[in-house]
Amino acid sequence: ELTVHNDPAELARVTRALQATGRTVHLVPTMGALHRGHLEMIRRARDVNAVIVVSIFVNPLQFGPNEDYDRYPRAFEADVEACREAGVSIVFAPGVEDMYPPGRQLSVQAGPLGEELEGASRKGHFDGMLTVVLKLLNIVRPNLAFFGEKDYQQLTLIRKMAREFNLDADIQGIPTIREADGLALSSRNAYLSEEQRGSALALSAALTAGAHAGKHGPRAVLDAAREVLATEPAVELDYLELRDPELGPAPEEGEARLLVAAKVGTTRLIDNAKVLLG
Ligand code: PAJ
Repeated sequence: ELTVHNDPAELARVTRALQATGRTVHLVPTMGALHRGHLEMIRRARDVNAVIVVSIFVNPLQFGPNEDYDRYPRAFEADVEACREAGVSIVFAPGVEDMYPPGRQLSVQAGPLGEELEGASRKGHFDGMLTVVLKLLNIVRPNLAFFGEKDYQQLTLIRKMAREFNLDADIQGIPTIREADGLALSSRNAYLSEEQRGSALALSAALTAGAHAGKHGPRAVLDAAREVLATEPAVELDYLELRDPELGPAPEEGEARLLVAAKVGTTRLIDNAKVLLG
């Protein structure tokens, strides 16, 4: 049995009442247009004693003025049906005015990491993202909250916020779900033509090549990945960076993270992979 809630205060009452009866609450925040990546997170959120809450909210605060807020894919009816089939009990689908009543003045600041990588070309994006995630965590008060490694910088910043702001929720990271050919699933893949989709494969292929070069050190990783990206003229590289797992400077050996962002046509794509150095 699935119920849809729009009102934050009402949902808050429902989740607290469930917890008072001994149920645990698992939250999977999304912006809708659900694909297999989202559904895999929902699958991973399942647990005998848990009530799964999926939020569907295209958060205007995390889109820049020249970004795709208006044309972001929306598929509410299909999303609710997919949630029902996946065993979700509650869909939280607030309107913009439910989340941001007029007069709102405060927001979370993502700090220095919010200005790097994705943040360098998406000003304010991570402030807006953290603000909505903090609100969702406060409304739902989940025991566990699930986020994908696909958006690795987002996941890292959410963990940082949970730590620095003493949030109760346990933040769970879910590995990236990919198509058989390596392309990371993303709602924005819907913007790609068949030909662009082929070009977009260079991102995951570059990460795989980079990860394979890990034993030869950081320089070799970046060279191997860059070489693959260079074979695809339709891929306009924004950044390719090697960092430590918390997104500080790359280590010389041990675990690291290779992150890439590029435009294919007008569509901005991101991907990342774990690399073992040395
Ligand atoms: P959205 O892009 O809808 O993604 C919702 C969640 O699904 C995020 O945690 C994202 O990392 C995860 N996800 C997307 N594609 C994935 C894939 N291929 N494999 C694994 N996980 C994947 O990210 C957002 O929405 C928003 O920023 C949000 C956190 C909801 C705040 O507005």
